Amino acid sequence: MNKTGFIFDLDGVIVDTAKYHYLAWKKLANDLGFEFTKEQNELFKGVSRKRCLEILLNDIGKINYTQEQFDSWMIEKNEDYLEFISNMNSSEILPDVPKVLNYLKEKEIPIALGSASKNAKPILEKVGLLNYFQVVVDGTHVAKAKPDPEVFLIAAKQLKVNPENCVVFEDAVAGVEAANAARMTSIGIGDQNILSHAKYNFTDFTKISIQFINKLISN
Ligand code: BG6
Ligand code: MG
Repeated sequence: MNKTGFIFDLDGVIVDTAKYHYLAWKKLANDLGFEFTKEQNELFKGVSRKRCLEILLNDIGKINYTQEQFDSWMIEKNEDYLEFISNMNSSEILPDVPKVLNYLKEKEIPIALGSASKNAKPILEKVGLLNYFQVVVDGTHVAKAKPDPEVFLIAAKQLKVNPENCVVFEDAVAGVEAANAARMTSIGIGDQNILSHAKYNFTDFTKISIQFINKLISN
């Protein structure tokens, strides 16, 4: 049997940080004089900070700006985000994520993080989950953002598991696309209507049984 590897996205899968990204982008949009809705925020999930700002300014705000302004807004958004997460602790881990991580650890299944965020490692540290992950691939390691499969392919390589034998948990449209492009088993966490391109869908980890995890491990 080929070894199975498990790859977790971070924001919106392990921790409830998607709302803080949203609040920081909304603050910037409002400061610049336009609205930013939760529906629009769906397209920001899994997408790099730079690409999010481009979409915000070009497609949503439709405003003109200089490179200097762009760079300073990138910094401003991240500073606001860091402020929002400054007091973050293990209470922000999403329900039943530790149950699944503990089970995988007990079974000695290789686990990786595959996140677009450049803040991934400090967040895992803050919530006390860093030592579950043999491999952490984040926004500081990739050249091509999701939906490109690069982040997950690097994770599989570092885990020494074939991409076909990797399972990916994702809450983002772009993230599920990336997992599918890597030929991995994609599991959408969140709204099934938004993540209908995932192989399996669950609203959250409380709906995932140990029997299902065992099925994934033995596939
Ligand atoms: C992803 C989030 O995990 O990380 C995106 O879903 C975010 O919303 C991206 O834009 C980049 O995060 P950061 O922390 O590097 O700004
Ligand atoms: Mg996410």
